[in-house]
Amino acid sequence: MHRILRKEDLTPSVHLLEIEAPAIARKARAGQFVMVRLDEAGERIPLTLADWTPQAGSITLVFLEVGRETNMLAKLCAGDCLTDVAGPLGQPTHIEKFGTVVCVGGGVGVAAIAPIARSMSEAGNRVITIMGARSNNLLFWEDRLKSVSHEFIVTTDDGSHGRHGVVTQPLKEVLERAPCPDRVIAIGPAVMMKFCALTARPFSVKTIVSLNPIMVDGTGMCGSCRVSVAGQTRFACLDGPDFDAQDVDWDLLLNRLRTYSDKEKQALEIWRRQCASAPAREGESSGHAQG
Ligand code: FAD
Ligand code: FES
Ligand code: MG
Repeated sequence: MHRILRKEDLTPSVHLLEIEAPAIARKARAGQFVMVRLDEAGERIPLTLADWTPQAGSITLVFLEVGRETNMLAKLCAGDCLTDVAGPLGQPTHIEKFGTVVCVGGGVGVAAIAPIARSMSEAGNRVITIMGARSNNLLFWEDRLKSVSHEFIVTTDDGSHGRHGVVTQPLKEVLERAPCPDRVIAIGPAVMMKFCALTARPFSVKTIVSLNPIMVDGTGMCGSCRVSVAGQTRFACLDGPDFDAQDVDWDLLLNRLRTYSDKEKQALEIWRRQCASAPAREGESSGHAQG
């Protein structure tokens, strides 16, 4: 059992949980993730390690409410326990002194890019961070990212904060500079990572993405997370989640992410009906924010 030490609502639909997990906190590296199971009957869901404190024995997860498990997770409070938190899993992000590194975070991917930007900065790189969200009220951790970046750009799709538009426009402008940055790391929705890859392609800059296929065990046994990279089948949980963006078969990934969408919608609706007929817990919010 893993106790929730702190909960913070970063936006109406993005929440932070600081969880007691001393063994994971001791070994965690930027780019790794954990598999979380809320209770005995729950699905396993992968969540990236957004932060960790070995001294306090805690890890920080940041998640967006999208379906049943993440909505259930959003209902938990400090003091509640999670049945399983397994990790750290996956290969850590390759950190070294490359020169200038552009870190791009979109939506909840901002939480995953934060420890990478910090590690890249600690390794002596000049870090340019570009973060984006649909709107001002969906942005979080702007100060945290600014504090580890030498240059910082924020975009919103609706222009309510920072530059009007999506992250690929400032990414293109940064890549057009002389000298060209040495590496790009992009994390966010698959479609955003695909377009970052397309933007970076003409510049021949190594571009790394953290893939988010459906994962079941997270340890290489079920095959559900298979992705096609440079024409080869790879397991994102074991071989990744980081891969060279130019080698990823994006259309296959995007299609596979939609495989169970009808069942996922149904599961969320059934759970919401069950919640509506159950008595609310003290201090619990009745509504569900939408990302
Ligand atoms: P559902 O309604 O079941 O599904 C909604 C959508 O989420 C699906 O269409 C599918 O695209 C995706 N999804 C569903 N189940 C899984 C699964 N078992 N594995 C992966 N994707 C799934 N999200 C965050 O908000 N924060 C993170 O830090 C984060 N880190 C991730 C790290 C990795 C390595 C991966 C692979 C995914 C990560 N995700 C993260 C995505 C997160 O795991 C899904 O949003 C979550 O599993 C959805 O569960 P659900 O039951 O709420 O939604
Ligand atoms: Fe099962 Fe990767 S999640 S093999
Ligand atoms: Mg689910």
